[in-house]
Amino acid sequence: MTIERTLSIVKPDAVARNLVGKIYDRFETNGLRVVAARMKHLSRAEAEGFYAVHRGKPFFDSLVEFMTSGPVMIQVLEGENAILKNRELMGATDPQKAAAGTLRADFASSIEANAVHGSDSPENAAIEIAWFFPQSEVYSR
Ligand code: TYD
Repeated sequence: MTIERTLSIVKPDAVARNLVGKIYDRFETNGLRVVAARMKHLSRAEAEGFYAVHRGKPFFDSLVEFMTSGPVMIQVLEGENAILKNRELMGATDPQKAAAGTLRADFASSIEANAVHGSDSPENAAIEIAWFFPQSEVYSR
């Protein structure tokens, strides 16, 4: 059994639509525990830094604009295979391709305004968690 942590973000579209509780419920009913959380309106520099891997791509400027358009809810999720589990709960990047019952199929409105972020590897999870939370603010069981 591998207990992992992953970085999750409820994006501005889903916060604006009052979906934080519904999304947290999906995490909790599927074995993921919120062990750190904060609400934040990202600055342009924070959004650009967080998505630095996408710099230069055609959607980068628009993505940064969207991610800074309103507050986000940022959390660390912990649980068995948390990284893959969260990615499964999220569904495909494009909500039109996301499987039925996933967060993006249910709550996203476009490939950009797609409701949630989740780390895609153990390496990125460690980097992304450290980007937002000092170790002292992660309340592991
Ligand atoms: P990516 O890391 O490919 O997807 P995921 O969030 O599923 O890990 O892309 C990061 C974000 O960039 C994605 O959630 C939304 C945005 N994006 C676009 O706006 N247009 C695109 O064509 C792609 C691929 C991503």
